[in-house]
Amino acid sequence: MNRVEDIPIKPARDARATLPPAIKGSLIQGVMPEFNRDTLGFIERARNYGNVVRMRFLYLTAYFLYHPDDIEYVLSTNAKNFIKSRSVRSPFFQRLVGNGLLTSEGEFWRRQRRLAQPAFHRQRISGYGDVMVEYTERLISSWSDGETRDIHQDMMRLTLEIVVRTLFNADVSGDAAKVERALSQIVKPFSSQATLKWILDNRLPTKTHRRFNESAKEIDEIVYRIISERRASGSDQGDLLSMLLAAHDEDGSQMTNRQLRDEVMTLFLAGHETTALTLSWAWYLLAQEPAAEQKFHAELDDVLAGRLPTAADLSRLKYTEMIAKESMRLYPPAYALGRESIEECEVGGFRMPAKTQVFMFQWAVQRDPRFFDQPNSFYPERWTDEFANGLPKYAYFPFGGGPRACIGNYFAMMEVVLLLATIGQRFRFSLLPEHPVSLLPAMSLRPRDGIKVRIENRRPA
Ligand code: HEM
Repeated sequence: MNRVEDIPIKPARDARATLPPAIKGSLIQGVMPEFNRDTLGFIERARNYGNVVRMRFLYLTAYFLYHPDDIEYVLSTNAKNFIKSRSVRSPFFQRLVGNGLLTSEGEFWRRQRRLAQPAFHRQRISGYGDVMVEYTERLISSWSDGETRDIHQDMMRLTLEIVVRTLFNADVSGDAAKVERALSQIVKPFSSQATLKWILDNRLPTKTHRRFNESAKEIDEIVYRIISERRASGSDQGDLLSMLLAAHDEDGSQMTNRQLRDEVMTLFLAGHETTALTLSWAWYLLAQEPAAEQKFHAELDDVLAGRLPTAADLSRLKYTEMIAKESMRLYPPAYALGRESIEECEVGGFRMPAKTQVFMFQWAVQRDPRFFDQPNSFYPERWTDEFANGLPKYAYFPFGGGPRACIGNYFAMMEVVLLLATIGQRFRFSLLPEHPVSLLPAMSLRPRDGIKVRIENRRPA
């Protein structure tokens, strides 16, 4: 089969003049094998074909979009003409998050988003700052100078504990390890997305399929138990679950147990790995950029002078926030977004038929030299207000955009900055050369074998 670089752009002929340049791929599978062999490389190389590129995955036509204006058109201006792509509607995904916020559509989604929104208002979220810092303190209190750790594993455990605590309050702390184990089983099949194995595992009772269902059932039991206990107690514990339980639509209706389960699972999944990844990649980048690390430490020493951070410090932890933004630019946890067109429309001057799978890549656009100087360098200083305001809106979209933008955006930013500050005050990390870090683009952009570091004390506990 041809490699992507070898495939010429199809000359536009009259009848097809309005279709974008195409990558041909193999007769049956289209570009699927090429895409799977080197997903991120394929995404980068396909950009050479233009801002809008057409291809086929088996029987599905896909368009890749590389220009912020076209991405804005799909996610925001013409969002009504798009639903989530097929990948999000796979049986695995449905079994996991059901009809939760990430996957539901239309009027139902709109109602759920309205119900959940108050739980994500800045003021409510700010109240979680102390929990975030307290849990971080607890984790790092056992760390010692010179120790070797997988910092990604630590960040996963920590953000899971924080999401569990903020969603479920103290009730499930005993189950945290079980949930963590089941969740890590559950995300496994997603590393083979867009392969024949993925298609078969989704539909047939293979070993992967059975394991997936067993783990999903384990988490279901915990989630349902918490919901019914909380319903029975009738107490408002001030956490997200209480807010969701208390949420009323305009007609007075509330969420059913099944719906609550779907929303809780969605928040569970959407709310911890993405944040953990942002932190892991930030530590990875800081460990390689002494100048940025020094500035980071100087800010922490200046603003906090040894005390623990709180939500009230966020406005002064500017450089720390820039680090978070720059990490999400280079290593976006959600590295791709997918949609499906409902009716035929025009994107970037090209015709897009109904039912086209549309993909937009933070991975590619956020490293595009048209929008970012030295796009592959870690340079937090670039994130001045002036620079951010001058960027095309969708040249940087780690949280998506338009009506389906991330509901946990503020929660995540607050968590990342507070955790960076709490940990960065006490410790710094150096990478272990014998453990090279490589990327695994699965459901999110993960380090394939974690990130092994050596811990160094910055100041005594
Ligand atoms: C750095 C961390 C995070 C990143 C990078 C991130 C990224 C995203 C992105 C790109 C989307 C849009 C998906 C699409 O358009 O198809 C999204 C949606 C969503 N995120 Fe996040 N997210 C993060 C943290 C969180 C947190 C902490 C929560 C909750 C506690 C959360 C809950 C959700 C939910 C519920 C949706 C679906 C919203 C809807 O469709 O109405 N996310 N996220």
